[in-house]
Amino acid sequence: MLARVQSSHLIGIEPYAVDVEVDIAQRGLPHFNIVGLPDAAVKESRDRIKAAFKNTGFPFPIKQITVNLAPADLKKEGSSFDLPIAIGILAAEGHIPLNILDEFLIVGELSLEGKLRAIKGALCIVSKLKDQKIRKIIIPKSNAYEAGVVHSVDVYPVESLAETVEFIRGEKIIEPFKSKISYHEDSKFYEDLSDVKGQFHAKRALEIAAAGGHNLLLIGPPGSGKSMLAKRLPGILPPMTIEEAIETTKIHSVVGMISDGKGLITQRPFRSPHHSSSDVSLIGGGQIPKPGEVSLAHNGVLFMDELPEFKRNVLEVLRQPLEDGFVTVARSYATVQFPARFLLVAAMNPCPCGHYGDTLKPCTCTPGMIMRYRSRISGPLLDRIDIHIEVPRVNYKELKEETLTESSENIRERVVRARKIQLERFKNEGIYSNAHMKAKHLKKFCKLNEDCHKLLENAMEKLGLTARAYSKIVKVARTIADLESSEQIKTYHLAEAIQYRSLERSLF
Ligand SMILES: Nc1ncnc2c1ncn2[C@@H]1O[C@H](COP(=O)(O)OP(=O)(O)O)[C@@H](O)[C@H]1O
Ligand SMILES: [Mg+2]
Repeated sequence: MLARVQSSHLIGIEPYAVDVEVDIAQRGLPHFNIVGLPDAAVKESRDRIKAAFKNTGFPFPIKQITVNLAPADLKKEGSSFDLPIAIGILAAEGHIPLNILDEFLIVGELSLEGKLRAIKGALCIVSKLKDQKIRKIIIPKSNAYEAGVVHSVDVYPVESLAETVEFIRGEKIIEPFKSKISYHEDSKFYEDLSDVKGQFHAKRALEIAAAGGHNLLLIGPPGSGKSMLAKRLPGILPPMTIEEAIETTKIHSVVGMISDGKGLITQRPFRSPHHSSSDVSLIGGGQIPKPGEVSLAHNGVLFMDELPEFKRNVLEVLRQPLEDGFVTVARSYATVQFPARFLLVAAMNPCPCGHYGDTLKPCTCTPGMIMRYRSRISGPLLDRIDIHIEVPRVNYKELKEETLTESSENIRERVVRARKIQLERFKNEGIYSNAHMKAKHLKKFCKLNEDCHKLLENAMEKLGLTARAYSKIVKVARTIADLESSEQIKTYHLAEAIQYRSLERSLF
């Protein structure tokens, strides 16, 4: 008899429908074959299924079993077809009524014992179902919280092959699972900026970066608190919207980074790849494309500590996501796109030994060494970083002081206000924040008066700023004005913005 079970397969974060067809015949020698471009993990399904049958107490048919994963020209990978194949075999043997199977989409990995293990990308699969005909999915229990986020789809969590069979046959009732989505007090999960003593200049820069979506470069000696500051940036960004949370969770879901019992990721991610990372781990890729660090940081912060230590080719591949907000991975059978819109925070020492300009220790580097070190960061990358600031070491007096500093929550309120102004401003422009303004937006939204022009002209001459710096300064000034809810960019907004470029002249 022939049975058909509906399942799903992921390419990148996009699910594709797969029909699992099982044919069982009783002619010559018994066999159990899986066709339809399966990879090694899919082929190993056979052994897992046989063991799961035995340990569940179902007799495994000693017949000619052929499983086809259709469409046959699409490469299939992973272990999520275990359950649909097992159910297909039982249906083809007449243990499960065929017509009921049409209502369900089934995914799940089997253990030898016949229990179900979590699959990757559950949220991606369920999100897609919400605008399709089938609205019921049978899924391993460990994926329930994540899959239950989509309330318009009926998610039936099951623990074992035996339970799945009982449920489909109607011998056991399982209620559709809906996750509670709670957002309240998420700010308490982040580390707080009030832990950082002193560094008012840096905290202000962090606030502006968060408010306008500007990428940020922190330059200072080791131990000055650069990592500490960067880690606290997600906590002053606006709370994630539900759409952002779903997008971010999907990406973490395909790499299996959602732990059991966890539903949506509601905190902005903070990713900090090591400087020895390869371009594939940063940008994504592989035989079957998987998202990289830039996508895991989607809607959050990507922190690149010791920026000049990253390999040149690794820094080069950052340009596409910084520009477009996504990465493209091309493979012979498909082109996959992963979202990658993040705030970049880069940190570096001022020189190879780290103590150039330090008040505590003398620098031992020659000018040539310093030049070479700094020139490792290419112009085009630097071009996409709007704010550069120096983070000097805090002295003992500041560290021991117990004065209260502003909490992340306060700062975040101002950031949220500034972001609202930008959303309103750009509602027909296809961008969301000041950092993404193009030349036409600058012209339209950043009108400068005569005094501002004079100040800027003066600064460019005196500081030797390039044309590239000009648009950065204006964008950052726009954000500073927005933080004050000022329609007009004033001279002191511009003057502050200029400060965040003055390092360019001395450093690069
Ligand atoms: N401004 C500060 N306030 C409080 N602690 C600080 C400050 N700066 C540095 N520290 C302490 O020094 C440690 C090292 O800071 P870190 O952020 O790792 O420096 P960097 O990344 O610049 O090398 C921190 O874990 C923290 O304990
Ligand atoms: Mg550090």
